[in-house]
Amino acid sequence: MVHRVVFLGPPGAGKGTQAARIAREIGVPHLSTGDILRAAVAAHTPLGQKADGYMRAGGLVPDDLVLEILRERLAQPDAKAGYLLDGYPRNLAQAEQLSKFSDVERVVSLEISPDRLVSRLSERRVCPTCQSVYNLTTQPPKTAGKCDRDGAALVQRPDDRAEAITTRLKVYAEQTAPLLDYYRKRRLLRSVDADGAPDDVTARVRKALA
Ligand code: AP5
Repeated sequence: MVHRVVFLGPPGAGKGTQAARIAREIGVPHLSTGDILRAAVAAHTPLGQKADGYMRAGGLVPDDLVLEILRERLAQPDAKAGYLLDGYPRNLAQAEQLSKFSDVERVVSLEISPDRLVSRLSERRVCPTCQSVYNLTTQPPKTAGKCDRDGAALVQRPDDRAEAITTRLKVYAEQTAPLLDYYRKRRLLRSVDADGAPDDVTARVRKALA
């Protein structure tokens, strides 16, 4: 199985859900730039203060800020054996930057029809403490409103509100979707059908990584 992997897909395709599962299975960290940025926003760090407005609106945080956090994270010891990148790269410039300091072995593209995405996103709830992801319909917590792992009150991401969702889908189509061709030309891309039960999607992702 490959160990340096990028997950691509539109907002709500299931990148975070699948990357977290596969990371546990193969013992490499799940690195989500969205999670890192949200933690910085919550901690009111200088990075978080700069990123907050872009994220709430559904736009991309400037490349130089994200590159810095990615470099720092990939330099940590647990990423030496590999990583599952979720949310990076997001445009061609980021893909070029990444290629300068790490050799990606495989890119998994989670594919799903756009009409599924809005309901997945508007029904998502997350744990602010451990980042576990739920869905009010498809993956509800055992106790309503509470995280199964640590009991924290679940919250809705500010960018999971209708206006920001529309912007995020547009940004994906314009800036991130061109990466599919970029990685296809480099023979790294595997497409995975992301519709269906999470366990079924995980089985398809495993095959794409074999
Ligand atoms: P980020 O956190 O990366 O958000 P995203 O790409 O929009 O992706 P999502 O987290 O919304 O969706 P997902 O595909 O992970 O789906 P999930 O598994 O949660 O980025 C957020 C923001 O940070 C960006 O907009 C930007 O501002 C900034 N940012 C981050 N990285 C950046 C970068 N590199 N450069 C610049 N800016 C950056 O699932 C969604 C829902 O569906 C959940 O409720 C889940 O339970 C449910 N679900 C999942 N799988 C299934 C299934 N098979 N069936 C039914 N329901 C399912």
